[in-house]
Amino acid sequence: MHRRDFLKGMAASGAALALGGLEVAGVADNAWAGPSKVDIGQCKSVKITCVSETSWFDSAKMAQDIKNGGGAMVSHYDIPWSQDNIGGYSALIEVEHLDGSKHLILMDTGWKQDWMDYVFQKSGVDSLLERKKIDVLVMSHEHEDHYWGLKSTLKRYQNIPMVIPNTFYPEGKALLKGKYKNDKAKVENNIPHTGELVEVGANQVYKMYPGVAVKMFDVPILLRVRGEQALIFNIKDKGVATVTGCCHMGILNLTNWAARNIEGYKPYALYGGLHIAAFENWDPKFDDIINGLKRMKLSKIGCNHCTGWVWAQRAREMGLPILLGTNKYREYKKVPTTGPGAKENVYLRNGDVIVL
Ligand SMILES: [Fe+2]
Ligand SMILES: [Fe+2]
Repeated sequence: MHRRDFLKGMAASGAALALGGLEVAGVADNAWAGPSKVDIGQCKSVKITCVSETSWFDSAKMAQDIKNGGGAMVSHYDIPWSQDNIGGYSALIEVEHLDGSKHLILMDTGWKQDWMDYVFQKSGVDSLLERKKIDVLVMSHEHEDHYWGLKSTLKRYQNIPMVIPNTFYPEGKALLKGKYKNDKAKVENNIPHTGELVEVGANQVYKMYPGVAVKMFDVPILLRVRGEQALIFNIKDKGVATVTGCCHMGILNLTNWAARNIEGYKPYALYGGLHIAAFENWDPKFDDIINGLKRMKLSKIGCNHCTGWVWAQRAREMGLPILLGTNKYREYKKVPTTGPGAKENVYLRNGDVIVL
């Protein structure tokens, strides 16, 4: 990102934003608990369908692509990705409000076009988009596996309201405008997004619906990405659930932030990629994350994607409430190399549903 764009982004982060007249509250990342706590209200329940968590099918191959492209400091827009190894990440979230009304949120729009068309069709997201039944597309971050499948969404619903971090790079912005084609990394979109666009800044909590908020963390991320936002739900009589794409802000940072800053916080659940052992490597500090999460006293953990199968297995052995997935993912036309031989399915995988 050029310095000028960076400064522009920082200036924009101070501005108030609104989607359908909704509110953005300003809260510092390390806000001291007390008067600055944010009241996001409450919802009744949250149902999450894993549309696809398989952004790549073979972790070793993914790691090799990054190595061949110059390493994790190189922009993802400059890496020649192996097209036979890629899929995408996307989740469909149905929120039920206290009065019984509902909203549908799509988090992330995946990567490879034909894979996204396939999983959208399998999960019914295709017809929901075509009938404009999805209320908003929330982009967790700009990474290829979450964002580059944008055309699959826009060709079905061009003016879908969107919420993105305000830290997208010029390439990501061009992709959104339908003016981007990159033959090296193989990413393109010629369908401009025409709907409302909310860009969430680092010190803001975007209150989307009662009990539903988006919190952006302005963090540097591998492959030259910046900023990831999480969905935060405050569910009546249960507590707070966080939903993440990759969780590059760190799962302990996120849960600690929620505990300190959400009014009436009670620990409850988390879902999504947790970016701990993304390439199935083991590091002793991963035990610290398990111990840190144990102290958070969550009731349900639904993890997948870049969490790392090795971490999820160990976390379950050490007593964290890691939910087991079904074998539905095996019915999909392509299955990941990690998992099928394991004793237990420690991921919520493609086609799985969790009700919070
Ligand atoms: Fe990811
Ligand atoms: Fe990511």
